[in-house]
Amino acid sequence: MVIVTSGSPSKFLAWNVAQALKAQYLNTEVKHFPDGETYVRFLGEVATEEVIVVQSLALQPNDFLIELFLMLDALKDLKAKRVITVLPYFAYARQDERFESGEAISLKTVSRLIEAAGADYIFTIDSHRHRVIEQDTLTTIPLHDLTAMGALAKHMNNIHTLHNPAVIGPDAEAGAWAKTAADALSVDYDALEKKRLDAETVEIRPRKLNLNDRDVLIVDDIISTGNTIIKAIDVLKKNGAKDIYVACTHPLLVLNALVRIYEAGAIDVVGTDTVPSAISYVSVAPVIAEAIKKLQ
Ligand code: R5P
Repeated sequence: MVIVTSGSPSKFLAWNVAQALKAQYLNTEVKHFPDGETYVRFLGEVATEEVIVVQSLALQPNDFLIELFLMLDALKDLKAKRVITVLPYFAYARQDERFESGEAISLKTVSRLIEAAGADYIFTIDSHRHRVIEQDTLTTIPLHDLTAMGALAKHMNNIHTLHNPAVIGPDAEAGAWAKTAADALSVDYDALEKKRLDAETVEIRPRKLNLNDRDVLIVDDIISTGNTIIKAIDVLKKNGAKDIYVACTHPLLVLNALVRIYEAGAIDVVGTDTVPSAISYVSVAPVIAEAIKKLQ
């Protein structure tokens, strides 16, 4: 039997993954002691079963990581057969190298701790770890990144009439996500890049496409403060883009990001349920379920 469970942040997503897999959903009790410590209990048996733990690490990453460690270690103690860990939002992944001397590389630390706690397999979704050249150095267990970009692009294309659209990543690193989204719609893609014109002037512009009079779908992994997207909208408008749509996998949406993006001129903004939010119209449950089916 396959069991899908989660801690406090991802119960509904875990429920949907269980439905998609025709698996059993197992509820957990999570509570906090007066001193702040976390308590986790599985409300059913897991011995000899394959258990999928769905645990997003968004917005309260430290609390949710502790829940995850307690769950993984308990599952091993309780003799689960195999523990597949799905991190729809993988917190701490942006610090994927030592940018300044002396910095902790949080991606490496957190990956190793998750493995040590008992994960046999890790799935992430549009995780911000593309600068890590040697993925194998993160963990000794398989770590596989899934993508919601195709589902996001199809959703936007289904609910809007996009005129001669192009998909744009707001920076060089988002170019790969733009390609995945564009491939799903069979349209062009590009990324914005910084070009130094002289010692004092840096211009941001599309790498190759002429976007004049074209609709644009901007895609990115994360919208946090919204500053990256707002800057991109400004650049795209200056480059003649017509209607601008925005999609992201992880809508963290801090500091009033959503209103500010609409104020900047976006027609629509859509995200997934890796982080439950006002714009989480696309579920990643089918993406997770498909990947897990391939493992079985
Ligand atoms: C950065 O490298 C990421 O891909 C996102 O572009 C970034 O995290 C978005 O953050 P914000 O919304 O705060 O600009």
